[in-house]
Amino acid sequence: MNIVENMDDQEIRDDDVFIITYPKSGTVWTQQILSLIYFEGHRNNTENIQTIDRAPFFEYNNHNVDFTKMPSPRIFSSHLPYYLVPKVFKNKKVKILYIYRNPKDVLTSYFHYSNLMVILEASNTIETFMQTFLDGRVVGSNWFDHIRGWYEHRHDFNIMFLSYEDMKKDLRGSVLKICSFLEKELSEKDVDAVVRQATFQNMKSDPRANYEDIIKKEIGTRSDEGTFLRKGTIGDWKHHLTVDQNERFDRIFNKNMKNIPLKFIWDIN
Ligand code: A3P
Repeated sequence: MNIVENMDDQEIRDDDVFIITYPKSGTVWTQQILSLIYFEGHRNNTENIQTIDRAPFFEYNNHNVDFTKMPSPRIFSSHLPYYLVPKVFKNKKVKILYIYRNPKDVLTSYFHYSNLMVILEASNTIETFMQTFLDGRVVGSNWFDHIRGWYEHRHDFNIMFLSYEDMKKDLRGSVLKICSFLEKELSEKDVDAVVRQATFQNMKSDPRANYEDIIKKEIGTRSDEGTFLRKGTIGDWKHHLTVDQNERFDRIFNKNMKNIPLKFIWDIN
C-alpha cells in the first residue's frame, strides 16, 4: 500500500471535495455517488473509469494518481481522523462529506471484511473482533474517537454529516442533499440516473464500482466467496451479536456518545 507521506505538504485547492468515513461506513457507495454526480461520462456509462480513480484515497494512493494533475474540482476519499488532516482544511472552503453508519453494522461489516482480506488480521469469532474493534486496533483506529473528533470540531470545517442509513432509506433525497451541499445542480433525469446506478444491486454488477478487481487482483482475498458489496443492509448486526454482546456495546456507546446528538438508525424499521 502506497501511504502518502507529508500530507501537510500536499497542495489543497479551495474547491476540493473530501469524502471522509470510518471504514465500512459507505465509502465506496459515496465514491460512486460523487462520480455519478460530477462526471457525465460516468452517469451515461460512456466512460469506464473506476470510482477509486475518480475519487482516490488521499492517504493511500494505491494507483499512484498524480494528484496535481487531477482537474478541479478534485474528489478525494479518506479515513483520516480530524487531527491528521492537513491544517489548510480549516480554511473552511474544502467541502467535506462525512458519512457515518451505526457502529454495530460497521463492526459486523468490518468483521467479514477483515476475514476476507489477506492484508488484514482475521478473527475467528465476532467476540474477538469486537474487542479488536473497541480497542481501535483496526484501520481507522477507534470508531468513537473518529466520529467524535470530526463532530466536535465540525465548526472548524465546511462539513456535512450524512448517515448510511439515511442514504439507504431515502437514496434520492440523500443524493439531492449531497448535490445541494456540493452546489451541483442536476436535471431530474440526471438525478434519476445517479440514483439508479447507486443502488446496491446495480453497484454490485458495475465493475467501475464493485471493487471486485481491486480486492481480488490488487489486494488479495482469503477466499473467492466473499465480495466487497456484501449485504448492504441496515441491522445485519442482529444476526451476529448475542444479547450480551449487544448490551455491552450499548453501554459503551451510551457512555461515549452522550453529548453527540447525531441521529443513529439501528434497524430498517
Ligand atoms: P456490508 O458489509 O454491511 O454489506 P466501505 O465502502 O466504507 O468499506 O463500506 C462497505 C459497506 O458499504 C458494505 O457493507 C457494503 O455492502 C456497503 N455498500 C456499498 N455500496 C452500497 C450501496 N449501494 N447500498 C448499500 N450499501 C452499500
